[in-house]
Amino acid sequence: MKSYTLIAPAKINLHLEIIGIRPDNYHELVMIMQTVDLADRIELRSLSTDDIILHCGHPDVPLDNTNLAYRAAELMQAEFPQAFAKYGGVEITLHKHIPIAAGLAGGSGNAAAVLVGIDLLWELGLTQGDLQKLGARLGSDVPFCISGGTAIATGRGELISSLPSLEGIYVVLGKYRSLEVSTPWAYTTYRHQFEHDYPTEPTSLADRSHRIHSGALVKAIVAQDAVKIGELLYNDLEKVVLPDYPLVSQLRAEFQRHPNLGTMMSGSGPTVFSLANSREQADAIYHQVRAAITDPDLELFVTQFCDRGVRVV
Ligand code: C5P
Repeated sequence: MKSYTLIAPAKINLHLEIIGIRPDNYHELVMIMQTVDLADRIELRSLSTDDIILHCGHPDVPLDNTNLAYRAAELMQAEFPQAFAKYGGVEITLHKHIPIAAGLAGGSGNAAAVLVGIDLLWELGLTQGDLQKLGARLGSDVPFCISGGTAIATGRGELISSLPSLEGIYVVLGKYRSLEVSTPWAYTTYRHQFEHDYPTEPTSLADRSHRIHSGALVKAIVAQDAVKIGELLYNDLEKVVLPDYPLVSQLRAEFQRHPNLGTMMSGSGPTVFSLANSREQADAIYHQVRAAITDPDLELFVTQFCDRGVRVV
């Protein structure tokens, strides 16, 4: 039986701006996304039966079709019934290293890896664009997780435009293990508070979306200016998550106390991160935050920017 092992990296948002509400009730976003080395490992194996079987050692990860990785396999089964009949079902094993429900797209990355892996198992020969279109049907972050690196994401987050890759930037991530923030809650709360600011004209929505391409952060990325990138970090969802989650806001303040390039919450949280210009600076932040917050529920990671998404090993 054929098998593949894939690596699915986590992402952080360098920029997350909410510019409006869409007819499908999702938000129109302008984001700059970045993959990091912290990653899950996914094993895929063809089965002689027509089952989809999911394994994961993490107690909080569901093993049924509420898991996006499972739904990715179901989607491939529905889209390619002949290949499914020829090659059989699939056994998926998730080795989780990315904290779950963290704003790091761990679940989306797992689904992205299942799409990429089944394409190989079933010898479908899909392009990256084909896989991203399928991924968009599973979740807004899945298309980015497939290509990874540094990219602008617009629309729901599924329209990806690659940027030059960034090297030598380190990241310290912090998340309370038992703290979760619901993404739908964060967006709905934001909508209730800020809907009056949303532009209503489709042309001004498009303008806002195009402005990012010539904006200061993209210029800093093209110039590989890590200091400027750190200064320009931005996330609209902080406006609703930080006031309601004092632990996140205290963690963010603690991260900011130590020399770093910039500090921000990722996605809808609750992960907070600081950028650092060297491994030494990142390690110093890690140790200082660890010394200041002794709560064993706090998980900290040192990682660095990486220039790719899902890959086969
Ligand atoms: O696309 P995904 O399933 O990952 O989105 C999770 C939730 O986040 C959605 O149900 C929605 O509440 C919110 N969301 C949004 N606008 C986006 C992306 C996500 O409102 N562009």
